[in-house]
Amino acid sequence: MYSKVLSILCVHKDFQRRGAATLLVQWGLVQSQQLGLPAYLEASSDGYPLYLKLGFHQIDVAVVKAADYDGDVDVKCVAMLRYPEDVSRLSVKGRMDESAFVAT
Ligand SMILES: CC(C)(COP(=O)(O)OP(=O)(O)OC[C@H]1O[C@@H](n2cnc3c(N)ncnc32)[C@H](O)[C@@H]1OP(=O)(O)O)[C@@H](O)C(=O)NCCC(=O)NCCS
Repeated sequence: MYSKVLSILCVHKDFQRRGAATLLVQWGLVQSQQLGLPAYLEASSDGYPLYLKLGFHQIDVAVVKAADYDGDVDVKCVAMLRYPEDVSRLSVKGRMDESAFVAT
């Protein structure tokens, strides 16, 4: 996979909606920009609006079955990608195929 993977992100509920997650994701986007690689993540329903706001777009949807993680409910994850600015400005022809970034 040729992308920068943003790992698990959680903000304590007492401190949510104060911009902490935005700052952390922006840090990851600076790394992505410096490496010249797209940023990839798998969003929860809580995280999805935040990532949309920060320029990510949906490339796939996966359902993690409860039995696979010893949980009670199936969880929907949205695979999302954001190109660094210089990559996003490339022509469609010169741009890499998004299927190369889908997690296996
Ligand atoms: C998702 C999460 C990390 C967001 O953290 P946060 O520090 O509250 O996020 P921010 O304050 O930076 O939010 C920035 C913007 O994102 C959007 N946003 C954030 N949380 C949201 C929510 N629960 N519902 C809708 N929009 C949300 C809003 O547009 C928000 O701006 P606003 O507060 O001015 O409206 C936090 O809710 C969390 O830890 N949730 C539980 C764990 C989880 O699902 N993590 C994501 C895994 S992919």
